[in-house]
Amino acid sequence: MAKTERLTADAAGLAHAASILRRGGLVAFPTETVYGLGADATNAGAVAGIYAAKERPSFNPLIAHVADFEAAQIQGAFDDTARRLAEAFWPGPLTLVVPVAETCTVSDLARAGLDSIGLRVPAHPLAHALLVAADRPIAAPSANRSGRVSPTTAAHVLGDLDGRIDAVLDGGHAQVGVESTIVACLGGSPRLLRPGGVPREAIEALIRQRLEAAVEEGANPLAPGMLASHYAPRARVRLNATRIEAGEAALLFGAPRPDGVKTARAALNLSENGDLKEAAAHLFSYLRQLDASGAEAIAVGPIPETGLGDAINDRLRRAAAER
Ligand code: TXA
Ligand code: MG
Repeated sequence: MAKTERLTADAAGLAHAASILRRGGLVAFPTETVYGLGADATNAGAVAGIYAAKERPSFNPLIAHVADFEAAQIQGAFDDTARRLAEAFWPGPLTLVVPVAETCTVSDLARAGLDSIGLRVPAHPLAHALLVAADRPIAAPSANRSGRVSPTTAAHVLGDLDGRIDAVLDGGHAQVGVESTIVACLGGSPRLLRPGGVPREAIEALIRQRLEAAVEEGANPLAPGMLASHYAPRARVRLNATRIEAGEAALLFGAPRPDGVKTARAALNLSENGDLKEAAAHLFSYLRQLDASGAEAIAVGPIPETGLGDAINDRLRRAAAER
């Protein structure tokens, strides 16, 4: 593949993106969470292209994006809880892992051979329009090289994947900024596989029950993509920093000013007002900016564990994990 086209968010750009997908190509597109790297989920050859472009291990299944709940029901079997979650949070930043339906058309490869499937109805108008125009489920992981920071702009996508994919549909900055929350409804109690754009509290309030943690069965993590080290910038990441050491860059949250911040290599505040939504929206692009400062480490101030703080801290812990 030679050149990656940058498509504008208008009717012509959309039509072109849909035609590339329909002929088995790869198109990155905006969702409300992060940019996804899309391929026709029913075409195993196209799906194989995603794994190759990202250098993603093929045991790690992809989320199938669909336009609405009706389309989701063709692919997966929804129990009562799954149905209620879909009704409450779709379209939006929630992925439901449910048993595969007999009518499923998503390729085995996209599901990594599992008998479950991850489904999501994205809320971004461009993502929705693309799903309608392509008229098929679209498999889409985050549009970054495997293990790297997820992209929230078209420029981030090109930074990682230029020359490896056919096109990117430019829809500006992704609004939520962290990936979807993943909940498995596979019989028994629903489990939280990944904290994300829908806070745990909102889900628990709806189903009036605690979400179980994802337990690992033997060597197989429930969400195979949740490897400990992930979302990794080049620089080392140091959490809960109360002072910034020489040569470090600082990622702050809210009012506290840790010692040493004045002499930091670079400093960015995720949200001066302590707004977790704003912080999530800035997270990945600020990590990239601080990484680009050339700092040897990024020191991160404490961030509350409530609401979207759950997803933000999860991503930061993975960024800080042993590589
Ligand atoms: O917000 C998002 O979810 C973004 C946008 C593009 O939709 N997508 C995304 O995809 O974050 P990805 O591939 O980076 O993360 C998907 C996660 C992986 O950890 C994968 O293991 C898990 O979902 N997953 C997918 N299907 C699954 C299944 N059947 N069972 C368990 N985990 C599954
Ligand atoms: Mg990802």
